[in-house]
Amino acid sequence: MFEANRVLDASFPRDDMEQLWEGIVNNHYVDEAAYLDSLLSLASPTDDQRRSIEERAMGLIRSVREQDDSVHMVDALLQEYSLDTEEGVLLMCLAEALIRIPDAHTADLLIRDKMGDADWRRHVGRSESVFVNASTWGMLLTGKVVKMDPGLEAEPRTVWQRLVNRCGEPVIRKAMYQAMAIMGRQFVLGRTISEALSNGRESRDQGYTYSFDMLGEAALTEQDSVRYFDDYWTAIEAVGGDTYPRGQQPVPSVSIKLSALHPRYERSQEDRVREELVQRLKRLVVHARGHGVPLTVDAEEMDRLELSLEVFGAVYQSQEAKGWGELGLAVQAYSKPALPVLCWIAALARKQGDRIPVRLVKGAYWDTEIKHAQVLGVEGYPVYTRKEGTDVAYLACARYLLSEHAQGHIFPQFASHNAHTVASILDMGHRLKAEFEFQRLHGMGDALYAAVMEKVPDVPVRIYAPVGAHKDLLPYLVRRLLENGANSSFVHRLVDADTPIEKLIGHPADALQSYSQYPDPRIPLPPDIYGEHRRNSRGHNLNVLCHLRPFLKALEKWQGHQWQARPIVDGQARDSSTTTDIQSPYKRDQVVGKVSWSRADLIEDALATAHQSFESWNQTPAEERARCLERYGDLLEANEHELIALCSREAGKSLLDGIAEVREAVDFCRYYALQARKHFADAELLPGPTGESNEYYLEGRGVFLCISPWNFPLAIFSGQIMAALGAGNCVLAKPAEQTSLVACRAVELMLEAGFPSGVIQYIPGDGAGIGKQVLPDE
Ligand code: FAD
Ligand code: 2OP
Repeated sequence: MFEANRVLDASFPRDDMEQLWEGIVNNHYVDEAAYLDSLLSLASPTDDQRRSIEERAMGLIRSVREQDDSVHMVDALLQEYSLDTEEGVLLMCLAEALIRIPDAHTADLLIRDKMGDADWRRHVGRSESVFVNASTWGMLLTGKVVKMDPGLEAEPRTVWQRLVNRCGEPVIRKAMYQAMAIMGRQFVLGRTISEALSNGRESRDQGYTYSFDMLGEAALTEQDSVRYFDDYWTAIEAVGGDTYPRGQQPVPSVSIKLSALHPRYERSQEDRVREELVQRLKRLVVHARGHGVPLTVDAEEMDRLELSLEVFGAVYQSQEAKGWGELGLAVQAYSKPALPVLCWIAALARKQGDRIPVRLVKGAYWDTEIKHAQVLGVEGYPVYTRKEGTDVAYLACARYLLSEHAQGHIFPQFASHNAHTVASILDMGHRLKAEFEFQRLHGMGDALYAAVMEKVPDVPVRIYAPVGAHKDLLPYLVRRLLENGANSSFVHRLVDADTPIEKLIGHPADALQSYSQYPDPRIPLPPDIYGEHRRNSRGHNLNVLCHLRPFLKALEKWQGHQWQARPIVDGQARDSSTTTDIQSPYKRDQVVGKVSWSRADLIEDALATAHQSFESWNQTPAEERARCLERYGDLLEANEHELIALCSREAGKSLLDGIAEVREAVDFCRYYALQARKHFADAELLPGPTGESNEYYLEGRGVFLCISPWNFPLAIFSGQIMAALGAGNCVLAKPAEQTSLVACRAVELMLEAGFPSGVIQYIPGDGAGIGKQVLPDE
């Protein structure tokens, strides 16, 4: 764990870049409670500081609330339809989906699917905003219209209902698109850079400067990335060539998303990224430097953090950027490695002697990060699970950025719309006599920063302003809607007149310490998401070095290994007459192992053994059977590197698909174990079709032949077998001949897990006619 509490100590190894890098790598999934404990010492104020921050925050909040126009239409709409209401979530889903759906018919189907069920009526007249009320009526109407399915035809209808029904879904769809477009306009400064420059003049007259963000991210094709690159190129030219008179404020900059610049910006393509993406960024640096336009690299998903730092480091240290001091980047405080990242950046700047501007944000991808970690099945989250954790981390990072160790090397840019955060920065900055600027997003925080500029006119404020077409807005818009709609968001609580000021000015360090449980028990760790009765299968995140390095190391051992597969009848590997060498499908000269195919007499033996074993297995308590399934799942995890290597070398799977393969097999085991317990343990108590208990019960049916496909050589193979075994059946397993080695290892592990030898038997066949020659007709 990175020693956060030592970063201000004189003895901290602040120039050891390798050690700092390891701090970044090892902090990715660090234990949240323990690490936050060490951050607290940096973020906790003294009593005097706490009071002074509260006063400042209170002053700012009052100014914001006094300004009537501070509550935007969209704020008010999100206030009414906050994400803790069913209707709010529905609207969010619609907003997110409608912009993606290209054809009218599907859009209508979606509206029909989503609108009918929600209770829009309870929102009527609850907001003072005309916009919110008009939207609510719109939604109420839409809901009513789409509810009028044929089943309701017979019901008497009012004239009004008939009328709206005649308007139909196309009209409603148009209205919905209009609502989305209005929301879009709230967040975008202009459709083109020249429009944005012109629209931005009024704010610049008030003393603001800008960072223009050309919408577009996550390029999927080379064509996309070329288009986005050209957008940045043109924007840099236009911003550099703008005739707005240079005043006291810092010059406007351009913000860049690396994901826009390369369609394969991911660890598995690191060679291409180091070559192509680095080149593209260098070209933009040269262009921007020539036009006197600072550049900032935005922070995106956590999976890309390490790679983004490698790209940034390479460009920053190149001849193209040396001596410039205007190539900056954003760092997300919600990410557990944020502080080591800042220390690493400061060391980089110290080494080269050029300043690095760093925008400190809390992070806009929180929901995605949580869901992604759950899907990956990793041990923890790369972000904090409580908002106060992020707030504390933000203040700890700010404390470091404003300290003598970072000042002069890093130029801090604090981006937040939280009045308490802003007040804390002002307080720290003032005490430490540090240099910094504030940043806000276009369409947000207007009133807050109007107050800040009035109270502290010497601190520059930069507006981050998205520029672009409606079709590129979606991901940005969704992040803003999530951010503003969440009831934990400061902005959300600020515009809620029912939240007293006192509740908005509490220090996050105090709130954090008041929690008895950490991480937040409402957000179970990824292994626990299925509840106490079923553990999630363990995954690996090959995009982050703390997982990738040990994973590749463990895999090395199996790269040259050769496997042998022979029929397994009654627990014994049996010799057979025909044997085939198995070659890797992607490298035909690589022999992966040998398979001996089953002979007819072996299969007959296996079948007889299975029939003999059935009764006793079927009578084995379901609990015992379930434990065998679980032990097999655990053994799959314990042997995962071997199995992934096999899936790769025998079936031609990519490593990611190999991981998914093992995980799916493990999930099958645990899921069917649960089902076996649920449906078979109390069999005699089950109610039958007429509701009488003890009328029927579940039991095994006999001997199953499981024939599995080659494209899921472990997952479907195991899934079929586990379902059958869990229910009390015996199995003869015949895998696709292309993947007989994987299947053999799987059956060996099943036997190791404790399934009796006659219950699961392995009869590989080469497709020469197992059905034709061998199986008796039963
Ligand atoms: P607050 O309401 O105080 O904080 C909200 C934030 O708290 C959430 O966004 C999230 O980060 C965090 N949070 C919420 N719930 C939880 C929880 N349960 N557990 C842990 N944390 C939680 N974001 C990027 O990711 N990359 C960028 O490059 C970037 N650039 C920006 C540039 C500017 C100028 C600005 C103003 C913002 C930028 N952002 C960027 C967005 C920024 O991350 C969000 O606006 C910011 O998180 C909102 O913080 P706040 O202090 O305004 O609000
Ligand atoms: C985002 O795109 C502002 O960079 C931030 O959400």
